[in-house]
Amino acid sequence: MDAARQAELLNDAGKYLAGGGTGLFILPPELNLVVARGEGSQVWDVAGREYIDYHLSSGPALLGHAHPAITEAVNAQLPKGTTFFFLNEPAIRLAQKMVEAIPCAEEVLYTGSGTEATFYALRVARAYAGRNKVLKFEGAWHGMHDYGLWGTVPGQPSAYPRAQPDSIGVPAQTGETVLVTPFNETARAVEMIERHAKELAAVMVEPLQRVLQPEPGFLEAVREVTRRHGIVMIYDEIVTGFRVAWGGAQERYGVVPDLACYGKAISGGFPLAAVVGRSEIMGVLDARRRPKSETVWATNTLNGNPVCAAAGLAALDVLARPGVYDRLHRVGSRLRAGMIESGQRHGFPVQAPGEDAVWGVRFTERRPLRTWMDLTTHDKDLGWRWAIELMKRGLLVNPNEKFYISLAHTDADVDRTLQIVDDAFAAVK
Ligand SMILES: Cc1ncc(COP(=O)(O)O)c(C=O)c1O
Repeated sequence: MDAARQAELLNDAGKYLAGGGTGLFILPPELNLVVARGEGSQVWDVAGREYIDYHLSSGPALLGHAHPAITEAVNAQLPKGTTFFFLNEPAIRLAQKMVEAIPCAEEVLYTGSGTEATFYALRVARAYAGRNKVLKFEGAWHGMHDYGLWGTVPGQPSAYPRAQPDSIGVPAQTGETVLVTPFNETARAVEMIERHAKELAAVMVEPLQRVLQPEPGFLEAVREVTRRHGIVMIYDEIVTGFRVAWGGAQERYGVVPDLACYGKAISGGFPLAAVVGRSEIMGVLDARRRPKSETVWATNTLNGNPVCAAAGLAALDVLARPGVYDRLHRVGSRLRAGMIESGQRHGFPVQAPGEDAVWGVRFTERRPLRTWMDLTTHDKDLGWRWAIELMKRGLLVNPNEKFYISLAHTDADVDRTLQIVDDAFAAVK
């Protein structure tokens, strides 16, 4: 483990990987790193630096890195074969666990990623409802397919229900079937849904929209109007599932959708995601009862992979233990409160919107933070500089995004983190 080797690897990453990395995420060269290993709440880079991880691979490592229960389950599966396409026991048992845990779930469709899950959920809804259009909320992140990438991070209000594509390469025609309206603007959303009801197959909502909590009555109103018009209400629980509560956002906020998309935490850090929902709707996937030409096609080579499913089963076993969610709330609430207190003491308008298991730090005087446009008042430059100071001092974070905590974060991690947070505020003053 040394700095020269890390520099060489980063150089080769720049040469051989598109964009020099694994996605859009770009760090300044002096802070860029190659992860060598992770254990519990910590990761180490190839240069030997240690970090407390608040990124958790963008959420999946909810148990912490290299959790022994997951390692053991995966090691037990590996010598038995890694992929069959045909049914396997871990996949069946994981589906059963999800149906038992998730309020809306009667059946499960496995996918490989969250992007595929939201993509197929929309197709299932279109097939079920016999309508073409879908509605999403401004600022919601549903993955990288052409229907998700509208109005995700706009700098200014859109000409609702039309929005701008987030990525080049997304066909303009797709946008004609995607309606966008602001999150938490209840009356406006209900009016929009009613106006387009005859064409709308689905309303997809991130119930905790990035770091924005739903206002009381918002999810209830969307539930009521979608039910009244036979529109499929889909929760994107890829972040919230098994994280904000055992029963996800459906349990936390008390409003149950028709379908939900799961990913990240359900497979203990392995690539597996799912669409779950009511049998009546999931029936459009059932080739036992329908001719193939009238069935929704949603099959992928690695779906229900036994290694990923075994990891998922082990992860859910740990999450089912008593006290797990109390612990996440205790650790997260201490960190959130500590970050606000420290920032305000240094004179910054700091807020920490979200839930205790996943939240953001935003620098803005705007209160309350309800909509995506409210979040655009956040001082991104300050947020970036603060995050860089955190990273220099040994916290692994995604600047201007979210803090995720795991079951492995200890009280000692929290103490050390709050000291670093305080030093970082002092440094950017
Ligand atoms: C709420 C939400 N939905 C969907 C996705 C897409 O999932 P994936 O990255 O597995 O494709 C993400 C990814 O971060 C997400 O946060």
